[in-house]
Amino acid sequence: MPQIFTASADTRLRAIALILAAGILGGGMFIGGYMNSTYTTRIGWVQNQPVPFSHEHHVGGLGIDCRYCHTAVETSARAGLPPTHICMTCHSQIWTGAPALEPVRQSLASDKPLEWNRVARVPDYVFFNHSIHINRGVPCVECHGRVDQMPLMMQAKPFQMQWCLDCHRDPAPHLRPPDQVTRLDWTQWEADKDHEVYGKLMVKAFGIEPKHLDSCNICHR
Ligand code: HEC
Ligand code: HEC
Ligand code: HEC
Ligand code: HEC
Ligand code: HEC
Repeated sequence: MPQIFTASADTRLRAIALILAAGILGGGMFIGGYMNSTYTTRIGWVQNQPVPFSHEHHVGGLGIDCRYCHTAVETSARAGLPPTHICMTCHSQIWTGAPALEPVRQSLASDKPLEWNRVARVPDYVFFNHSIHINRGVPCVECHGRVDQMPLMMQAKPFQMQWCLDCHRDPAPHLRPPDQVTRLDWTQWEADKDHEVYGKLMVKAFGIEPKHLDSCNICHR
């Protein structure tokens, strides 16, 4: 019968044990970092777009309101992306020959919508609705950040379950008058603490129930 444990077996076993331990430790560290890394939260991510549309220019520079382009945001679940003719209300007059706008002109001529690549999204099994948030005075900036400073749209917030829940369990400090939801630089109240007082009043007035807002079937229907 051959010898099972050779002289070198002990060393080899130790080496294997060491590699396994390092693997488990490293794996744990990988998962820990992975969960909160920008790879999973996607914060700061941008997409290539058919046209280099800049919110910094159009919102920050020209001061166009969100609702001019995202027309459905107050009335439906989806904010919607603007149809080409909205771009052309201006771009049939200005920058008419710009090469960057060629896809826009083609889209109008061929009646095919521009195919924007989506940046801000949740998985299909999550139910989301814009109008509910907008009508309760949850501002765009809470969820999409300072888009007026973004040359290319990027993901600003994690859009993970915990992030939704943090606000749902205590929405008061995040609320403002619904007619101010699209103002990204609205700071009027930050100084005088009116924010929290107003928020608490609105939670009462709108009948918002934070206890009810973290039940699973609110977002998973
Ligand atoms: C209310 C008028 C208006 C509308 C609507 C509008 N634009 Fe513009 N756009 C401008 C002006 C003015 C400029 C020049 C900005 C500058 O250089 O400061 C511009 C510049 C651009 C540029 C050049 C690059 C840049 O950002 O400077 C692109 C590309 C562009 N627009 C795409 C679009 C698209 C796509 C739409 C539709 C979703 C659109 N625009 C809607 C007024 C408008
Ligand atoms: C002149 C038109 C215009 C205005 C005004 C405008 N947007 Fe947009 N928005 C677009 C276009 C076109 C896209 C698609 C291209 C892109 O992602 O940049 C877009 C994309 C977005 C997206 C990413 C959607 C996705 O999932 O890909 C968000 C979020 C957004 N806009 C928020 C806002 C907010 C908030 C405001 C107001 C503060 C605003 N936009 C004002 C035209 C506009
Ligand atoms: C409470 C958080 C929240 C607020 C407030 C909010 N959004 Fe969104 N927005 C989201 C989420 C989540 C998505 C992804 C929805 C999906 O994938 O179905 C999204 C997607 C979008 C999109 C992509 C197209 C669409 O309809 O899915 C646009 C454009 C957009 N938001 C614009 C706006 C504008 C403009 C405002 C303010 C008037 C606003 N959002 C306010 C969370 C928010
Ligand atoms: C900054 C605060 C805030 C964030 C972030 C937020 N919400 Fe909300 N959400 C609210 C408020 C306020 C209401 C209104 C509650 C009411 O009217 O009773 C609401 C209501 C809802 C409702 C409707 C509840 C009902 O009674 O039918 C859904 C669905 C919802 N949110 C999903 C989401 C999802 C999914 C996310 C994350 C992607 C999210 N919300 C992030 C504040 C927030
Ligand atoms: C306020 C909205 C909201 C509520 C309430 C909510 N979820 Fe979620 N849930 C989400 C979002 C958003 C995601 C997507 C997370 C992502 O893409 O990373 C998600 C993802 C999940 C997933 C997929 C795995 C994961 O963690 O990414 C499971 C399972 C889940 N939720 C279970 C639940 C259960 C069980 C409850 C009730 C205790 C619940 N959710 C309540 C918003 C919500």
